[in-house]
Amino acid sequence: MKLIKAIVGLLLANVCSGAAPTVSVVSNTLLDAKGIFFVSFDGVVNVDSFQLSAVLAFQSFQYAAWYTSTGMAILGRRTLPSGAWSTLQLPHNLSTSDSHNVISLGVSPQDGKIHVALDCHSSQVSYTSSVANLATSGASWVASQFAPITTTLGTLNIGTEITYPQFVITPTNLLQFVFRTGVSGNGATQLAEYSAGTWTNVGSWASAGRAHVSGTWREQSGAVSCSSLGLTNHDTVYFYSDDLGRTWFNSAGTHIGTSGTSPINVNTAGIIIDALDADHGLMNQESQTVDSTGRIHIIISYVPGRFTQCVENYETVRPEFARPFHLYQATNGSFVKVEIPFFIQSVGRSQIVMDADDNVYVVMPFVRVVTASKASGWTDWTVVYNGTTTGLDVFEEITLDRARVTPVSVLYQQTSTGTTPSAVKLIDFALNG
Ligand SMILES: *[C@@H]1O[C@H](CO)[C@@H](O)[C@H](O)[C@H]1NC(C)=O
Ligand SMILES: *[C@@H]1O[C@H](CO)[C@@H](O)[C@H](O)[C@H]1NC(C)=O
Ligand SMILES: *[C@@H]1O[C@H](CO)[C@@H](O)[C@H](O)[C@H]1NC(C)=O
Repeated sequence: MKLIKAIVGLLLANVCSGAAPTVSVVSNTLLDAKGIFFVSFDGVVNVDSFQLSAVLAFQSFQYAAWYTSTGMAILGRRTLPSGAWSTLQLPHNLSTSDSHNVISLGVSPQDGKIHVALDCHSSQVSYTSSVANLATSGASWVASQFAPITTTLGTLNIGTEITYPQFVITPTNLLQFVFRTGVSGNGATQLAEYSAGTWTNVGSWASAGRAHVSGTWREQSGAVSCSSLGLTNHDTVYFYSDDLGRTWFNSAGTHIGTSGTSPINVNTAGIIIDALDADHGLMNQESQTVDSTGRIHIIISYVPGRFTQCVENYETVRPEFARPFHLYQATNGSFVKVEIPFFIQSVGRSQIVMDADDNVYVVMPFVRVVTASKASGWTDWTVVYNGTTTGLDVFEEITLDRARVTPVSVLYQQTSTGTTPSAVKLIDFALNG
């Protein structure tokens, strides 16, 4: 009897040591007791998973942005890893109660300016940037460090129908601005680049839908879906550029598009990595990251066909049945998709991050963290933190700092009703591998 128990104990120990990676809470900080609150398009304006970035680390500092109860845009700064937050108020009020109208932050490494783009949904962007070197000097955190708000990027006019403002830093340390022009279902993804203090236009790299390096197509015609209350997103696509977004290739290495002159479109060959019709409530703008070998890992989410072949209303059926999926490029170049075995219980999106050992951590709505180890081939999915049971009281979707992942800072807003303001908070998780 004893021997059997000992063997069982040993087996359990082995299972545990090979288990999915864990996380632990480093801190949970109140940024604003009264963030603006209203639900539109199933989201809140302070915390959208597609924001790049609402929380952003750069060298010694981390920045966060949100709208306070009156709609004024607030920028916070702390010294990493655990300094107190200082705030300043930009001279800009949220123009409309639309959750798309997020604040996005970027830093240009060449001159240490902090860039802010905000408050647009198929409308003019509002933009400002700081004095040079504010991001590196840590000089006083006051609004006068920022230029007056404009509807252009410096002298670059980017038009009047802007959505999804996102800043990214290239491997060559240029700051780029990725944004959509046009309207949902008939938009184009555009690229502008900041170098030597000037913004220039690179042009459109995808049109007639919505495409990203990973993305999905959105049709304007509801007729592509089985139900008028469905989502007209279909298929997941992947393509890449090795020259800072000028020319584009599919995963087989075939040249498929050139920014400005021949944008990728819904008929471009060889870019679909997961085929799915428009009847499954597939979400757009979800999340992606790249592993240590340079391969892409994507989170998508939709209602699997075993639950229904026709999502009649995505706002009710996604919370009931949608699952996240981990879709990644294997070493042999083909794409592998694994269903993450937990319901999202929300319309909202999930965010993927990886640690240095390529273990995967997915922060689902309500700050529910599920993980899978590389050692298991990303199959041992486990819930390692559940913000509902720990009482965080999170309003569904979250956003996180992609520039610093150990620890990872997750921005969330507490739930509320109507338009009663609620707390904007930042929780830091150590990724334990
Ligand atoms: C923003 O709105 C507040 C009231 O909510 C008002 O006092 C303030 O003047 C407005 N500021 C700007 C820049 O519009
Ligand atoms: C490529 O690798 C994946 C993951 O290891 C595997 O599931 C798939 O069968 C492989 N495909 C081919 C064509 O070898
Ligand atoms: C998190 O906890 C809530 C409340 O108990 C539960 O409904 C939900 O299914 C849990 N989520 C996961 C992913 O385990």
